[in-house]
Amino acid sequence: MSQTFIKDLTQFVNQEVILKGWLNHKRSSGSITFLELRDGSGFIQCVVSKNDISEEMWEQVEKTTQESSVEISGIVSKHPKQEGVFELQVKNFKLIQQAIDYPISPKEHGPEFLMDNRHLWLRSKKQWAILRVRDVIITAINEYLHQEGFIKVDAPIFTPNACEGTTTLFPVPYFDEGIAYLSQSGQLYIEAAIASVGRCYDFGPVFRAEKSKTKRHLSEFWMMDAEGAFIEHEENLKIQEGLIKYIIKKCLVECTVEFGILERNTEPLKKVLEKSFTRLTYKEAINKLQSLGSDIKYGEDLGNDDEGLLTQDSEVPVFIEKWDKNIKPFYMKIDPEDDSRVLNDDLIGIEGAGEIIGGSQREDDFDLLLSRIKQSGMSEKEYSWYLDLRKYGSVPHSGFGIGVERMVRWMTGVEHIRECIPFPRTINRLKP
Ligand code: 4AD
Ligand code: MG
Repeated sequence: MSQTFIKDLTQFVNQEVILKGWLNHKRSSGSITFLELRDGSGFIQCVVSKNDISEEMWEQVEKTTQESSVEISGIVSKHPKQEGVFELQVKNFKLIQQAIDYPISPKEHGPEFLMDNRHLWLRSKKQWAILRVRDVIITAINEYLHQEGFIKVDAPIFTPNACEGTTTLFPVPYFDEGIAYLSQSGQLYIEAAIASVGRCYDFGPVFRAEKSKTKRHLSEFWMMDAEGAFIEHEENLKIQEGLIKYIIKKCLVECTVEFGILERNTEPLKKVLEKSFTRLTYKEAINKLQSLGSDIKYGEDLGNDDEGLLTQDSEVPVFIEKWDKNIKPFYMKIDPEDDSRVLNDDLIGIEGAGEIIGGSQREDDFDLLLSRIKQSGMSEKEYSWYLDLRKYGSVPHSGFGIGVERMVRWMTGVEHIRECIPFPRTINRLKP
């Protein structure tokens, strides 16, 4: 008999199966022991009666501690009281490896202790649920983009220059070539690829030497950058809204168990699907913030509190578009209707999610782009390959980048972004 997975047990009621996994929790009352088993696909209670198994097996059951690995066979039965819940009536029990003094007990531990033990903490129910929601989000992104005609074309991680400003670059010695930088975003490279494949995206880790110690910043995080030829500002926003709604829909269908474990109230997520996202220009956003009591001035970037204020009464995410060009990167297209601003957007999620997406139409005019590169104090030579794209068949084009962990944080309702990536890297965390 081969291994059966807990998620498939509905098909095996009253049949014998073999389960393999780890002991989450054990509870005994006299001659009956209840083992909560975890196999990666789910959780199940296994009921062991001393009278039903051999004495040797019973001794092994008694020796089985939290996180010991085990192999159990038995008959699948419906839970006597809970609908849709199954149990295993154990017939055979094998202890594979006894875990002694597992450091994470059901009692409360501080975040530093848990982070130091991240390699073990990942096994806890809440972390299991987050990892699974993360996977559904990543799958949703890939599905949606393919439906919209984008193909995956990856960008390099070692890069010679900055995409998102020079202040958050991580330098790395690179053979005889001098210094390379870890990529902040693959955008510039997939802009090159659209002239080959039309619509494409990259998906990978990006790096920002962020000095900020917030609940929303990692120094290594995963980003999906999408880019499309002949896509202009309006269509860019439409694709972004479609993507967010697609992700939410898929999570609502596929993550019911996970949302239960996370105690996530999904009503606000359902409401997001019902309406169009709100839009404010940067100027309108500043005016609104000032009227709400913020001391922000025109020309300043929005802080965490500002993003919270702007979305506090909103049932849907808010696009803040057409920012002042002086606070946005060189590659954004100047708005033909108002040359003080660019055709870009930041998408702010609700429920305190903060900025989820940053996107823009790109400057496709050679001379304007060159002057923006020079104004930003960057070297024309370093960006000559990027400028080439405006020399040979330049077209209007747009794209955006979504921060995967920001989206995971919003969907799961988890407070801190460090729990939204398997092994977080922050200003003060490089281990394990
Ligand atoms: O807004 P950003 O900096 O945009 C870009 O990098 C563009 N080149 C994307 C593009 O147009 N293709 O970053 C995109 C998103 C943010 O909206 C946010 O969700 C996330 O990446 N992000 C971070 N997530 C975690 N930790 C950080 N330090 C982040 N910085 C940005
Ligand atoms: Mg941004």
